Amino acid sequence: MSSSSRSWLLAAMFAAIAVHSSLPTTARGNSLRTSVFLSPPFILEPGSVVNQFYRDIDFPRGHIALKSLDAEVVDEAGNSIPLHETYLHHWLIVRYYGLKESEPPTKTIGWEHDLPKSIPVRNAGICHNTLSQYFGLGSETRRTRTWVPDPYGIEAGNPEDAPYGYEERWMLNVHAIDTRGAVDRLGCTECKCDLYNVTIDEYGRPLRKGYIGGLFCCYDKTRCRVKQGFNDVPRKLYMKYTVKWVDWDDGVVPVKIYILDVTGSAAERSNGSSHTSCKVEYEVESCGLAGTSNDKYCIDNKRTRLIMPRGGDIIYGASHQHTGGVGAALYGQDGRLLCSSMPIYGEGDEAGDEAGYIVGMSTCYPSPGSVSIADGEVVTFESNYSSTQMHTGVMGLFYLLVADKQPSKFQYLVSAIDGELMQSSYVSWVLIAVGVTAAFAMVARYRQSRAMEGYQSLAV
Ligand SMILES: *[C@@H]1O[C@H](CO)[C@@H](O)[C@H](O)[C@H]1NC(C)=O
Ligand SMILES: *[C@@H]1O[C@H](CO)[C@@H](O)[C@H](O)[C@H]1NC(C)=O
Ligand SMILES: *[C@@H]1O[C@H](CO)[C@@H](O)[C@H](O)[C@H]1NC(C)=O
Repeated sequence: MSSSSRSWLLAAMFAAIAVHSSLPTTARGNSLRTSVFLSPPFILEPGSVVNQFYRDIDFPRGHIALKSLDAEVVDEAGNSIPLHETYLHHWLIVRYYGLKESEPPTKTIGWEHDLPKSIPVRNAGICHNTLSQYFGLGSETRRTRTWVPDPYGIEAGNPEDAPYGYEERWMLNVHAIDTRGAVDRLGCTECKCDLYNVTIDEYGRPLRKGYIGGLFCCYDKTRCRVKQGFNDVPRKLYMKYTVKWVDWDDGVVPVKIYILDVTGSAAERSNGSSHTSCKVEYEVESCGLAGTSNDKYCIDNKRTRLIMPRGGDIIYGASHQHTGGVGAALYGQDGRLLCSSMPIYGEGDEAGDEAGYIVGMSTCYPSPGSVSIADGEVVTFESNYSSTQMHTGVMGLFYLLVADKQPSKFQYLVSAIDGELMQSSYVSWVLIAVGVTAAFAMVARYRQSRAMEGYQSLAV
């Protein structure tokens, strides 16, 4: 090797080392990235409804920690569209594994026919078959914080997680209602069946008897009644979503996403495992005192008890309610408040402050480690609505981010002291600790089974 080629090689090696060693610093959580995406367009005209599912949307790729996801409806020029024109019933972003089309193994032709095209990746939440999304909000989207505080993050894109032949993708569901010129704006947003002239659901099945409003009446391509002679232009709209993330590294503490539903109720399967079925929406009856100043008596207080399969530290919490909502809260098994979330109503006309609409929900950011849930704890979820008038198709959801319990400073201290203990007493300490833990576990299990009995009678 000539000396010139040797020095070239050395230079290349140095360059490689420099590039390599510069990577961890940029990846160490301190470089927050932001991407702004637009969904495929959807067209809305007065009274029309869109409930579309867009597969394989634009989304940050690679092994990352998601830090926030904010969204809103905009028009072609990028203007924010106010809720009294386009009511955003909800948007959801679902993570899934999509079957890769490339590289089918040549030897086993047809193998892909046996495989599902997509495999949803559910959040850690407890509703059976529903509410599997990673992100999602409704009218409150513009003023509800979604920031995941440091050092936490929602892990995505770990190539080791995807099954062979699949890759991670994201799906967006947008449900929006154009209420320009509506005969009854609130009625349209609450999906009152008579306003939509709907008697069968999306699949042609007759509606359940007594069902007067909700998602089964405002599905894709239905129409809400518009004032006679009202005319306005069809509009091309988009969901604009802004994703913030950092590259994944060991400094990021992963959080699990739980979505709790106030209509959820736990049921025991025949094989003994428990299973939470969620109806997603419910109705609020009028207290019959409209027009009087009895507001404080006219509160619909819906409560349910739910079992958190796995506990941890609550990092973030926010509720989702519809118009009429006056707050939601989550309580631990002993009645302690875990998190409450209150609606912010708009007061004006412009996007983000529309009078009569929930334009934001307050959020909880407990200082890490200060609010935690035990494994198997039975939590109570409470959702309040004003019942001065009746409401259909309302929701009470709680979106929680939970991190595995981190070893606290106290625990470090204990293990440090442990190290100092003499061998003989160390063994007896361990034996005592094991005994005490077992006793606690038995008591907790007994309490939990009692709580579940109580819960089942409640659910009837
Ligand atoms: C409601 O639907 C029925 C049939 O489904 C139709 O005959 C009727 O004209 C509709 N009414 C309105 C106001 O659109
Ligand atoms: C009980 O049955 C359900 C399906 O009905 C299944 O998903 C679950 O794994 C079963 N649990 C046990 C403990 O067998
Ligand atoms: C819900 O209403 C009940 C009874 O009216 C009240 O005690 C409770 O504090 C309310 N909860 C929230 C979160 O506003």
